Amino acid sequence: MNIKVDPDWWKKIFDEVYLLTDARSVCDEELTRQEVDLILEMLPVRPQHKILDLCGGHGRHSLELFARGFTGGTMLDYSKYLIDHARSNAEIKNYRIKLIQRDARDTGLPSESFDHVLILGNSLGYIAESEADALILQEAKRVLKKKGWILIDVTDGSKVEETLTPTAWHEIDADKVVCRQRELVGKRVDARELVLSKKEGLIRDSTYSIRIYRPGELAAMMEKAGFKKVRVQNDFRAHKDKGDYGFMNRRMLAIGRKL
Ligand SMILES: C[S@@+](CC[C@H](N)C(=O)[O-])C[C@H]1O[C@@H](n2cnc3c(N)ncnc32)[C@H](O)[C@@H]1O
Repeated sequence: MNIKVDPDWWKKIFDEVYLLTDARSVCDEELTRQEVDLILEMLPVRPQHKILDLCGGHGRHSLELFARGFTGGTMLDYSKYLIDHARSNAEIKNYRIKLIQRDARDTGLPSESFDHVLILGNSLGYIAESEADALILQEAKRVLKKKGWILIDVTDGSKVEETLTPTAWHEIDADKVVCRQRELVGKRVDARELVLSKKEGLIRDSTYSIRIYRPGELAAMMEKAGFKKVRVQNDFRAHKDKGDYGFMNRRMLAIGRKL
């Protein structure tokens, strides 16, 4: 295998097809509720706190937090499609969540304005430049108030190294199938993903490349960005079934504080 990846893949892939291919993880409301339970166990979140859901996708965590009375939410994501999706869901529910379409490396948000920054659902490691994730963490630290907390939920790279299989497929529904081809190239997993409709044929043929971190590497990057009291919990398995959930299989949750 030698999967060729467009370095700008992450600017293009997060649309309605992503909501199909990753539905088992990101469109399962029960799973989102469990993830928010865990966030609330790990961080001292209070109803008056300002929370930034960085790389928040279609807003599932922000919406769930708002539903639970944490109404000081802002969500930022690069994908216009996902931001629009989040906006229509928030409008239907009359939830006042601030939604921003922008690059997480440069949020444009005021310094020291949030009590918590969340980076959830494996949203690091997308940009080809090796320092990109460090820039996202520095930006998170800038917008955090003193004594504020960051929580990062990403795939556990050590588990990926141990268990990655070169091919995987699953049926989304009676009509659609997702097939993935993957290879570990240094610290990145390069992948090709075909989405097929049994009736209509090929829906999408795309590639992507994601940097992985072992628990110690994630902790070191957070410490380098200036976070203190860094703690990584690397036994988070969101799905009850043993299926192949790609990067959402075995995750780690890391917290750190700006002192
Ligand atoms: C796998 S999705 C997870 C979304 C959400 N956190 C969740 O758990 O449902 C990753 C998201 O990160 C966003 N993303 C990745 N890099 C980004 C960047 N540099 N700036 C803003 N958003 C980014 C993508 O647009 C995508 O919506």
